[in-house]
Amino acid sequence: MRQILLLLALLLTLPAMGQNERRTIRSGEIWPDDTGVHINAHGGGIMKYGDTYYWFGEHKSDHTSAALVGVTCYASKDLLNWHNCGVALSVSDEKDSDIERGCVLERPKVIYNPLTKQFCMWFHLELKGKGYNAARYGVAVANRPEGPYRFLYSQRANAGTWPIEFREQELVTIDTLNEANFREQWTPAWLKAVNEGLFVKRDFGTGQMSRDMTLYVDDDGKAYHIFSSEENLTLHIAELTNDYLHHTGRYTRVAPAGHNEAPAIFKHDGTYWMITSGCTGWAPNEARMFSAPSIWGPWTQHPNPCRGPKAELTFGGQSTFILTIDNGQQTAEEGQRSENSPQYIFMADIWRPRHPSDARYIWLPIGFEDGKPVIRWRDEWELFSQKTHI
Ligand code: DGJ
Repeated sequence: MRQILLLLALLLTLPAMGQNERRTIRSGEIWPDDTGVHINAHGGGIMKYGDTYYWFGEHKSDHTSAALVGVTCYASKDLLNWHNCGVALSVSDEKDSDIERGCVLERPKVIYNPLTKQFCMWFHLELKGKGYNAARYGVAVANRPEGPYRFLYSQRANAGTWPIEFREQELVTIDTLNEANFREQWTPAWLKAVNEGLFVKRDFGTGQMSRDMTLYVDDDGKAYHIFSSEENLTLHIAELTNDYLHHTGRYTRVAPAGHNEAPAIFKHDGTYWMITSGCTGWAPNEARMFSAPSIWGPWTQHPNPCRGPKAELTFGGQSTFILTIDNGQQTAEEGQRSENSPQYIFMADIWRPRHPSDARYIWLPIGFEDGKPVIRWRDEWELFSQKTHI
């Protein structure tokens, strides 16, 4: 009798379990984790380790965008159903710690270093009470993907080093590259000076500003930190040391004076593609796209890759990461894959600055038209067979 009752109970709970399982991606909607709570991992990125995807992002509170908790981590084998692994990097209660509770800690990204067997987290850091003036990056490490991560240091980038395209002698002797020479910003003369390195020169000694960022590991294992620098006017791509914990000092500038943030990058058939946004705070704007034959450039700008409603506003979101799915690799969901499965997923954030924890996610497959990436809006889509419901 007891066995029959147990069987009955199991049969009754099975359909309910199935109903909770997520089978499609629905951008802009609440995305519950395995505890039924909306995933709280904004400005995030995904790292695959073994057969598991780890999603790291900013924990957002209900009433402030300041970091009150830290970086969260979620794990999934199918990219749809996510287990909440908790806080990967916690903010500190120590006064004057770089990551003191109340600092601004944004856009965390994690990469695995096979040489040191460490998980390396980089993020954009603004010191508590200093607005967005610190413009630093921070680094933390862990021995397990989900953490806990140990904070190592934060600083500005590449102090005392010129970008690869600059010849030191030229810059030092250009007196006009001095902010005091410009009473007005955004004039053609000022933009020309920015292009020529006005802020690179200003920040040469203290290090280059480092805000919105991502990390990229190339096929040869070399890793790069890509970030908005020079008052958010110019992107920098900086090579990392073999342990992925520092810059080597080799870096290049992308789209000088172009005012780009929110960089996300992938490589397809040997071409590097980067999608960025303009700089309008938490408000959405039109996505930009660049390509290059080498990470070191030259980078060429292309039109907005988004298509569909609100395409001119990145569907109401801002780029944060592009996930490359390695279709050749054995994964738990291998059996479900079809040839049409997307190889690249564009991830963006729909910010809600008045209620930051309610910010939403946009995940859309990247297709190609005339050899260029295209991101079409889909209300709902199946990750592994790419059936769409519009
Ligand atoms: C836009 C950036 O992309 C976000 O990460 C955040 O820094 C906001 N600006 C703050 O206004």
